[in-house]
Amino acid sequence: MKSLEYKNDNLFFDGIAIEDIAKNIKTPFYIYSEDSIKKNIKDYISDASQKTLFCYSVKANSNLSLLKLIASQGMGFDVVSKGELHRAIKAGANPKRIVYSGVGKTKEEIAYALNNKILCFNVESEEELFAINSQASLMKLKADISIRINPDVKVKTHPYISTGMRENKFGIAYEDAFEIYKKAKQLDSINIVGIDFHIGSQIMSIEPYLDSIASVKKLIQKLDTIDIKLSHIDVGGGLGISYKGEKLVDKSEYVKTIINSLSDLDLNIIFEPGRSIVGDCGILVSQVQYVKESSAKNFLIIDASMSELMRPPLYGAYHEITPTRKSEMPNKVYDVVGPVCESSDFIGKERKLNCKSGDLLVIQDVGAYGSVLSSNYNTRPRPAEYMISNSEIKLIRSADTLDQIIENESC
Ligand code: LLP
Repeated sequence: MKSLEYKNDNLFFDGIAIEDIAKNIKTPFYIYSEDSIKKNIKDYISDASQKTLFCYSVKANSNLSLLKLIASQGMGFDVVSKGELHRAIKAGANPKRIVYSGVGKTKEEIAYALNNKILCFNVESEEELFAINSQASLMKLKADISIRINPDVKVKTHPYISTGMRENKFGIAYEDAFEIYKKAKQLDSINIVGIDFHIGSQIMSIEPYLDSIASVKKLIQKLDTIDIKLSHIDVGGGLGISYKGEKLVDKSEYVKTIINSLSDLDLNIIFEPGRSIVGDCGILVSQVQYVKESSAKNFLIIDASMSELMRPPLYGAYHEITPTRKSEMPNKVYDVVGPVCESSDFIGKERKLNCKSGDLLVIQDVGAYGSVLSSNYNTRPRPAEYMISNSEIKLIRSADTLDQIIENESC
């Protein structure tokens, strides 16, 4: 993983010994590397042409400091709720660089986005199109829209995070899209600006994008015959990261390939990467509380759990777990589990480790879909988040206090 290396058997993150970081900070905590995030953004943006817009997908990690950093590096945003739009604006984003996706935008959310004059809505159903038109008409505005096509492309990823297949709830079926564009053209408060797809997440090859572009292009040509001219195509997010040694797609190669595949069309290209911007830039630091060994199974019980990191129980996701101190002692096989009262509360299964209580463990590649998926289950405080910026450790979110967890409740 980026920024992580042993020096004299001691694990460093972004040049700082994790044991030193943890001396003053209560575990578990998330910590991110600003330099790694900047590097990922540069890898996407530096070779791209003028006709591209990179919209970071806020859902991957919506911490305000991260959003501010990401905006400062030249990215726009992809949001899926009023809350995410609120965050992006708070972080100083230019609304004209914000696209709004999601299958269930409410009237209130549509009004909020119209008020804020975002770049466009990615429309996911015919009814939503009419709802946006009515709301825009009420507000005497025109809504810029793009239709999200479901290109029915199979991608090799976990079924929960594939989004571009016929049976997924996302987007408008390819075969219905032409008729819906025709209807959109008739609506007084709708301004058609683009076409969009997002086929899934943690995708490790460019082919499914090229397949989707090939079919979407046919539709764009058909739209041209009825005088619907688009100004952009949005190819979604989805590039994966290496959690377990998977071969990576080179970001700039990916961007160049997509740009080439669209070079015959005069369209701006929008990308919506999330995971590949922040995923490999964050770790979760946790402390071993107890070592529990028996003839049936060995457990390392740590102070992080499914409340702080949901990916392993939710998707069977693999995250590398590394001790902060390298040991020459023989390893044993452990399930690394949290204190939450669920058998699904595991962070890693059958890991070869050598640990004792009090040791620190680093859970890798948790910058994306880590803290955002955390909860207060078992009334556990959501953990603090830090960022290493110019070799300094900055607190970017405090851990919840117990009073904060219960403050909206009454008795
Ligand atoms: N655009 C849209 C419309 C999306 O639905 C998503 C992710 C993205 C962009 C960003 O995709 P990325 O570049 O991050 O792959 N919680 C799951 C991932 C869910 C992804 C949902 N959509 C996980 O932890 O693996």
